[in-house]
Amino acid sequence: MPRILMCQPDYFEIEYEINPWMSKTRGADSALALKQWQNLYQTLARLGVEVELTPASPGLPDLVFTANAGLVFKNHFFSSRFRYQERALESPIFEQWFSQHGFEVAQLPERYFFEGAGDALFCGTSLYCGYKIRSDVLGHQWLGEKLHRQVLPLELIHPSFYHLDTCFCPLKPGMALYYPGAFDDYGLRVLRSHITFLIPVAESEALRFGCNAVVVGNHVVVNTGCEKMENDLHQAGFTTHPVDLGEFLKSGGSAKCLILRLDGEDAAIW
Ligand code: ARG
Repeated sequence: MPRILMCQPDYFEIEYEINPWMSKTRGADSALALKQWQNLYQTLARLGVEVELTPASPGLPDLVFTANAGLVFKNHFFSSRFRYQERALESPIFEQWFSQHGFEVAQLPERYFFEGAGDALFCGTSLYCGYKIRSDVLGHQWLGEKLHRQVLPLELIHPSFYHLDTCFCPLKPGMALYYPGAFDDYGLRVLRSHITFLIPVAESEALRFGCNAVVVGNHVVVNTGCEKMENDLHQAGFTTHPVDLGEFLKSGGSAKCLILRLDGEDAAIW
């Protein structure tokens, strides 16, 4: 049974601006955000996912984005070190949850920023890592040595696609969605030479967070407004489940940011 960690958006708001999507003048509608989040939760539950919850905490509006808690690898949890102070207080909360749930909690050396599964995604046996805007490239190399896994660094060059999971989504070993405009030529070469089936997402749908999708077996849960991408996924044998997550886009997040897979992504070979 797939297991996922989520956090109910009880204190979700746009209280600061740490990415181009966020504007304090355009706050979130709390009631609508809760409805959208519940819809995501129920969609995942219907797909057979066991959803675990960590309690919301006042003053931490972005705690809902559990993808940024850290990186899960087997029973290890590598906790994030957030670039912005606004999110740094989330780490002790996640560390406590993971240690209480049977994980071995570890931290990266203090000199590295690292934003968890937002910037580190397995496709097959390799760990693809987005760096520069939030996470540091050397932190990922440190992780690769700990995990004995190949790390493939990808520089993120577009401020709106500031985490790797906003522009890259492994579907299964050897297959992924990506938005080419978020990478430099070298990153595109890395992706194209390591992943056999790459499905490009159009800019308009990448801006609807199309790449920020949750993969559960042959099912893909994604924000609404990504019909072309959904079609491409159908062609590739996937079933899609659109869920409107508009309130979370105002914070620069969507489906994938709102979950953290606890048992390994479907595309990962550990
Ligand atoms: N407002 C949050 C931030 O800027 C959004 C995080 C989105 N998470 C993700 N995994 N892309 O940090």
